[in-house]
Amino acid sequence: MIRGDGAASPQVDERLTDGLRYTETIDESGRWRSRRCCLHLDGEEEPVSSLVLHSLSVRFGATALPAEGVGGVQTRPDHQRRGYNERLITRAVRGAKERVPAVFLYGIERYYSRFGFATCLAESSIDLWVRRTKGLSAPADLTVREADEEDLPEMIALYNELHAARPWTLVRDKSMIASLRHRTPWKSRPDVLLFERSGSAVAYAAIAHYPFGWIGRAFTVLEAGARTLADAHALLAEASRRCRELDLEQLTIHEPRDGTIGIACRALGCTVTEHTAPDGGGMGVLLDRQAVVDGLRGELARRAGTPTAAPHGLPATDRLLAPLGSGELVRDDATLLQLLTGYRSWDEALLLGEIERGWESSDPDGLCRRLFPGGSTSALPSPYAHRLDRY
Ligand SMILES: CC(C)(COP(=O)(O)OP(=O)(O)OC[C@H]1O[C@@H](n2cnc3c(N)ncnc32)[C@H](O)[C@@H]1OP(=O)(O)O)[C@@H](O)C(=O)NCCC(=O)NCCS
Repeated sequence: MIRGDGAASPQVDERLTDGLRYTETIDESGRWRSRRCCLHLDGEEEPVSSLVLHSLSVRFGATALPAEGVGGVQTRPDHQRRGYNERLITRAVRGAKERVPAVFLYGIERYYSRFGFATCLAESSIDLWVRRTKGLSAPADLTVREADEEDLPEMIALYNELHAARPWTLVRDKSMIASLRHRTPWKSRPDVLLFERSGSAVAYAAIAHYPFGWIGRAFTVLEAGARTLADAHALLAEASRRCRELDLEQLTIHEPRDGTIGIACRALGCTVTEHTAPDGGGMGVLLDRQAVVDGLRGELARRAGTPTAAPHGLPATDRLLAPLGSGELVRDDATLLQLLTGYRSWDEALLLGEIERGWESSDPDGLCRRLFPGGSTSALPSPYAHRLDRY
């Protein structure tokens, strides 16, 4: 809805106590459908505190659920430390609960846990010496060129295929194209390389450009994907050639250790760096535990292997859905989210005392261990958030 002055009118406009007003306004101009949530103080033209909720589709393995991502959290410097942001987040998340069962964000440390958010993502990247790629070459039937606009839908499809079961990744759609096109006066778009065989995309790489005037010495591949090991080798050979042209000796690649690129790099010899933090970074909160458990019924059965019929005819995993939904099994929501996203395995959570012992007797087949194997296992890839999908 557009007001007479050209501004969109808020979908939610609610008077709070203490001279405050809360508004939510839909914004469809960006990559995702978003809601700008603002806290206004009587007499002030600009909101005192604001954030944006983006509508996303987040994978929890081979199943994606609707979720919202919080970005742009800020309070005007002259109004900080008066509780405004706390009131804003609490109200915005209450609204999100009516629409989605989970909310995610990338946050500063020691702040979001008070609202129930828990870290469920490790940051990781790969460093590869260019000399390790000596001897790699592109197969004769592979061509490489700069991608153009028409190639982007095919690249998005390739991304969705390569990460079809990877937790934390977003299901990409054509709105992604806008963010690849985006450039600012300080930063140009990444170079996007496309590798094709018989006219079909089999690999791609987005190589970072640095802010204009930057004189650092790093070569960063923001994202790369390849169908096969030979395609990954061709991609690494090309990235290394470009790296050498700049007189640089090392590539940093922002890809998980267990994707085709990660596996190829590890076989060549590389350094995989993983940062974990007790708090902050990629965080999430379950807003409707039962809806998440119900939505992931098929995913849990997939992880456990072919569902086997229990004596009363129910697939074995279904026995655990009720206790998981009610909190009888895995009491803490944060722990459940960490298990579902593969940030923790069942055994790790047991070791850390994050789940109560005693379930072993009611779970003689070790089903919980199969439902929650942790990432980077045969049933579940490691959770990963690609740079191009941050909000
Ligand atoms: C973080 C921020 C949004 C908090 O807004 P606010 O309206 O001042 O928040 P509240 O008054 O509700 O809560 C204040 C509490 O925030 C916490 N806080 C503020 N800045 C923080 C920071 N950089 N790191 C961790 N906690 C912080 C403190 O615990 C503070 O409580 P205290 O005053 O008792 O120490 C605000 O400081 C801000 O805009 N910072 C700059 C932008 C930013 O960092 N955004 C978050 C990006 S993920």
